Amino acid sequence: MTRSPVTVTVTGAAGQIGYALLFRIASGQLIGPDTPINLRLLEIPQAVKAAEGTAMELTDCAFPLLRSIEVTDDTHRAFEGTNIALLVGARPRTQGMERGDLLEANGGIFKPQGEAINANAADDVRVLVVGNPANTNALIAQAHAPDVPAERFTAMTRLDHNRALAQLAIKLGVGIDEIQRLAIWGNHSATQYPDLFHAEVGGKIAAEQVEREWLSEEFIPTVAKRGAAIIEARGASSAASAANAAIDHVHTWVNGTAEGDWTSAGVVSDGSYGVPEGLISSFPVRARDGRYEIVQGLEIDEFSRPRIDASVQELVDERETVRRLGLV
Ligand code: NAD
Ligand code: LMR
Repeated sequence: MTRSPVTVTVTGAAGQIGYALLFRIASGQLIGPDTPINLRLLEIPQAVKAAEGTAMELTDCAFPLLRSIEVTDDTHRAFEGTNIALLVGARPRTQGMERGDLLEANGGIFKPQGEAINANAADDVRVLVVGNPANTNALIAQAHAPDVPAERFTAMTRLDHNRALAQLAIKLGVGIDEIQRLAIWGNHSATQYPDLFHAEVGGKIAAEQVEREWLSEEFIPTVAKRGAAIIEARGASSAASAANAAIDHVHTWVNGTAEGDWTSAGVVSDGSYGVPEGLISSFPVRARDGRYEIVQGLEIDEFSRPRIDASVQELVDERETVRRLGLV
């Protein structure tokens, strides 16, 4: 059965994640094989021509599900009737830039985009922020979209989740599909905490199947610093794996998590696990009926508690910085 078309807006469409993402969206991997797609590509004026080149290539793929493509540098037009917004374009950190400068520069992007989503998007809009610093950029956009339920703004930590799954699978010599209930807590940054104390492999807790030293000295830093390691190796930040994680995040959001399992996403905190209300922090989440919900009732032991708290504190500090800048 063919469903109603969905309008998907991708910002930063001419960038490297955009190039890895758009073809997968247009081929039906974002939502499913029965849902036609209308694509809106938002770019800054200097990059519109490059985005038009990508649009030509998308046309040339003759994807059966791709109904239309529009390239624009008009933020309001880009989000008109949008059901799914993938906010990828962001201001990268350049040499000599402090974190506060980075947050301020990104405020100039995510504030108007939040306002444009508020004014123009479809009632069921769902937003995924990929552009870094993803959690706080999502917070800025959400703060400027008062008519959109806050829970519809999310930040991407699915790449961290996938990285953690892969490292654990390699260590234990198991398939990815044998791992359940892994979770990333906190910020999409080097302070994030990948949690193996609730993860299960073969029905047993993963943290009990690895040496504690490997967990703290190898696993956690490898996952948390993987983005920097990719930049070091490739000379550019992760693109295909980031696009893949964005596809996973939205696909799960729309289609749900498997029974008994969960995943990770940056979602608005309701105060669970001591994470201050309103922060966009990564949690273990389940997707049901088209909504992400924080998994409740997990016991947090003394190994995990300070690590979660440290990453959450970084998010609190980022929120304080953007508050001082008048961005939230
Ligand atoms: P890129 O520099 O190749 O592309 C970014 C694109 O965004 C550029 O084409 C630029 O013109 C565009 N852009 C800038 N400002 C814009 C605006 N206001 N509106 C629309 N477009 C705008 O970068 P990339 O490699 O595609 O990465 C994009 C972002 O994703 C970066 O911030 C990167 O750090 C982040 N990222 C996040 C994760 C994650 O897991 N959350 C992983 C990888 C990368
Ligand atoms: C990643 O995790 O690969 C990126 O967030 C790294 C970056 O700084 O763009």
